[in-house]
Amino acid sequence: MSRVFVLNGVNLGTLGTRRPDIYGTMALDDIEKLVRDAFPDLNLGFRQTDFEGEMVGFIREASDSDGLILNAGAWTHYSYALHDALESLDVPKVEVHLSNVHKREEWRRVSVISPAVDAVIAGMGTYGYVAAVRYLIERASRP
Ligand code: DQA
Repeated sequence: MSRVFVLNGVNLGTLGTRRPDIYGTMALDDIEKLVRDAFPDLNLGFRQTDFEGEMVGFIREASDSDGLILNAGAWTHYSYALHDALESLDVPKVEVHLSNVHKREEWRRVSVISPAVDAVIAGMGTYGYVAAVRYLIERASRP
């Protein structure tokens, strides 16, 4: 059974009511359910925090897992601390964004964490989480 972490950063706990025009109407609990229902056999660690240091701890916790999916929210665009924590982690890593960050404000086009991950998904909405888990499971099954 694969062990996968799905980590959500700052402000993602307000999904559902925060800018539904951009992020949709699903709350984070609904996204967790979506992933659990799609992968009933997965050993899933689903977390959210608004505290950067706590997120660094979550990232370290994933060190013996099959992979990590991170939507870092606004930290994506400036957190070198998260970049360095990800860089030290030797498991497959996927950066996920609900929205297409490249279609929005200029500053959202910059991700300081992308150089420390294996893959980036943006603009698929909640399906991005499912696609990222599918990728990690497929990777874990490779010889
Ligand atoms: C986001 C995009 C970020 O720019 C923003 O700060 C978020 C959510 C997304 O999922 O599209 O909080 O990561």
